Amino acid sequence: MAMWRRVCALLALSIATPAQAALEVDLQSPASIRAGAKIIAKNLMSYYHGEEPGNIPGVLPGPPPGGPYYWWEGGAMWGTMVDYWHYTDDKTWNNNTEFALLFQSNEPQNNYMPSNWTMSLGNDDQGFWGMSVMLAAETIFPDPPPDRPQWLMLAQAVFNTQAHRWDAQTCGGGLRWQIPFANTGYNYKNSITNAILFNMGARLARYTGNDTYAQIAEKAWDWMEALGYIDKDYNIYDGAHVENNCTDLIKAQFSYTAGIMIQGLGFMHNYTKGKEPWETRLTGLTKRTLEFFFPGGIAVEMACELDTHVQCTTDMLSFKGYVARFMAQAVQVAPNLHDIIMPVLRSSAAGMLQSCNPDGTCGFRWNTGAYDGLTGAGQQMNALGTLMALLVSQPSTLRPVTNGTGGTSLGNPAGGGDPEVEKFMKPITAADRAGAGILTALGIIGITGTLAVMSTSFGEGGFSFSFK
Ligand SMILES: *[C@@H]1O[C@H](CO)[C@@H](O)[C@H](O)[C@H]1NC(C)=O
Ligand SMILES: *[C@@H]1O[C@H](CO)[C@@H](O)[C@H](O)[C@H]1NC(C)=O
Ligand SMILES: *[C@@H]1O[C@H](CO)[C@@H](O)[C@H](O)[C@H]1NC(C)=O
Ligand SMILES: *[C@@H]1O[C@H](CO)[C@@H](O)[C@H](O)[C@H]1NC(C)=O
Ligand SMILES: *[C@@H]1O[C@H](CO)[C@@H](O)[C@H](O)[C@H]1NC(C)=O
Ligand SMILES: *[C@@H]1O[C@H](CO)[C@@H](O)[C@H](O)[C@H]1NC(C)=O
Repeated sequence: MAMWRRVCALLALSIATPAQAALEVDLQSPASIRAGAKIIAKNLMSYYHGEEPGNIPGVLPGPPPGGPYYWWEGGAMWGTMVDYWHYTDDKTWNNNTEFALLFQSNEPQNNYMPSNWTMSLGNDDQGFWGMSVMLAAETIFPDPPPDRPQWLMLAQAVFNTQAHRWDAQTCGGGLRWQIPFANTGYNYKNSITNAILFNMGARLARYTGNDTYAQIAEKAWDWMEALGYIDKDYNIYDGAHVENNCTDLIKAQFSYTAGIMIQGLGFMHNYTKGKEPWETRLTGLTKRTLEFFFPGGIAVEMACELDTHVQCTTDMLSFKGYVARFMAQAVQVAPNLHDIIMPVLRSSAAGMLQSCNPDGTCGFRWNTGAYDGLTGAGQQMNALGTLMALLVSQPSTLRPVTNGTGGTSLGNPAGGGDPEVEKFMKPITAADRAGAGILTALGIIGITGTLAVMSTSFGEGGFSFSFK
């Protein structure tokens, strides 16, 4: 296959020019992959100072201007570290991971809506923490002490609060991006938010066997499809505004949204034992995602990683890692994806290694054969997520469990506390607002400068763009 020739070419290149093969990993050797992952993981954790005196456990330095990272990215990092343990069996970071995931959980509501972080609280921000604890349940990450919230309970509480926010008043349904009505973006219904609802619904259905979760997931898919957020060629566009009844679709595409949907589709496939239409959707979206976001077999964040320059926000610099990890988990529950996905993740990993230094510091661009100096926690998650995903089919790698097949995490189907709690959140000031949320929508990165470049980079002769 063409992809294989490319992998071999890249491997040959790394052997022929060892001076450039900055982080040496033999992609054919699980032991070598584990050793490389250990170096990259340690480097990733060097960004975390939450347990140092005066700092807040669970979060990366931020939010801006105090540091580059929003609250959600901590949640994303702990999911990465759950996967790191799951793939490598290295327990070095497990205590930090458990401590962090519990510290930010907002006990006793257990819903990942701590009042400190209201101004960063989109459904997607909350959802990233939720997906990380769902992973902990699926991988049998060590259960917290019995007097603390359990992984499944936390995932259910996040899901329940989100399902309750389904808003049929505008656009015929869908979740809004932001949770507090005063946050910028409350008027935006976007794909990432609804993708996470879909993802968690599918996974909770499989884990618990409770079909209500699958029905809510299906409702989210149907809504996204009906409004053209997912088109017939399996492109997934960013979102649209309620004041236009969600007809002003912003056609930017981000790799993590696709990855989250692929993972959710994998679980729907598994839960329904391969029934249509999930099977067709799973294959269709997987193929489109690999084609669009992995040109030449190497991950590129198409909306912002332009040939001429990188204009990704800190958030966007972390998306490649999620798409790799979530596609790998889809392979575990939908084994027929293995031969479609794994060759591409392997060639992407080969490109990635060329971007890393021997100390495990990795750059952002993976298709140049060199380290680009663009570093950060997101880039480390990208590198780690892609490398460890190659261990997915090792016999020692546990497949996601369910309550009936080895899962030990205790749930609470009624979790989430008072779903109306957001109405009583602390008032938001205009100054707070400036920094809010995951900035998926491109408007935030400088619309006018970006737009001309964007329309050419999509090759679509321009699209309507009405971000407010
Ligand atoms: C993790 O915490 C447990 C219980 O406090 C302790 O026994 C163990 O040594 C810790 N492990 C690491 C790697 O720090
Ligand atoms: C909330 O902020 C306070 C003050 O900085 C801090 O002590 C506390 O640990 C924070 N809690 C969470 C969950 O972030
Ligand atoms: C708004 O969009 C929904 C979903 O597409 C549609 O069902 C509804 O009729 C639209 N409402 C108006 C006023 O156009
Ligand atoms: C199934 O999930 C729904 C939605 O969260 C919940 O209301 C219901 O109680 C659950 N049923 C069981 C049997 O756990
Ligand atoms: C569901 O996932 C399990 C665990 O990986 C796997 O053994 C099984 O084959 C999957 N079922 C389907 C229908 O793909
Ligand atoms: C999960 O499994 C345990 C024991 O294996 C059982 O007691 C419990 O009822 C199950 N929960 C659900 C939601 O099926």
